[in-house]
Amino acid sequence: MTVTNQYTRTAKGLHWLMALLLIGLIMLGFYMHDLPLSPEKLQFYAWHKWAGVSAFLLVWIRLAWRIRHRPPALPVDMPKVMQLAAHAGHAMLYLLMLAIPLSGWLMSSAKGFQTVWFGVLPIPDLLGKDKALGDLLADVHTALNLLFIAVLVAHVGAALKHHFIDKDDILRRILPGRTV
Ligand code: HEM
Repeated sequence: MTVTNQYTRTAKGLHWLMALLLIGLIMLGFYMHDLPLSPEKLQFYAWHKWAGVSAFLLVWIRLAWRIRHRPPALPVDMPKVMQLAAHAGHAMLYLLMLAIPLSGWLMSSAKGFQTVWFGVLPIPDLLGKDKALGDLLADVHTALNLLFIAVLVAHVGAALKHHFIDKDDILRRILPGRTV
């Protein structure tokens, strides 16, 4: 287990790569959902699924890294309840980063649309075709995304509060550059 007072280059890289990927996935997901049926819509669905499978793989890599590299400690003068909220928020983000792609994969399986990753690697379906279950899983996928957006808004709000109000090192230590 490595312990430092900085996030490692890998932790920072994975954080910002996944932030971009997940925010892009959310925007594409809501945009494509409302489009009328067309070849373009189907292409967007395929891209969304390929990126979602990639995010699912990346979060496992990130978790494997995280287990072996403890993040820097929170400021000692930060109230215990805020420290607890920060840890709970991060745990929630990890949980949702796993649950959201998994619910998409289950939904796609139940709807009978197999995912072929980047058009070359078929991903096994986790469920048999079942329209009612597919519709239910689509609602679950949307609800989990709405919850994710709420946690994310709190996460970004907390990061900005640390930077501009508390004027501590929390945001700077995860920004690119100044790495151990
Ligand atoms: C989809 C987008 C994002 C996700 C999923 C995400 C997720 C996470 C997670 C899970 C951690 C905890 C790392 C750990 O200790 O293991 C973290 C840390 C952090 N994130 Fe994000 N993040 C996102 C976007 C952002 C954005 C946009 C900002 C800033 C404006 C930000 C600022 C931070 C900061 C400052 C930390 C470090 C907190 C500390 O030092 O304890 N994140 N993020």
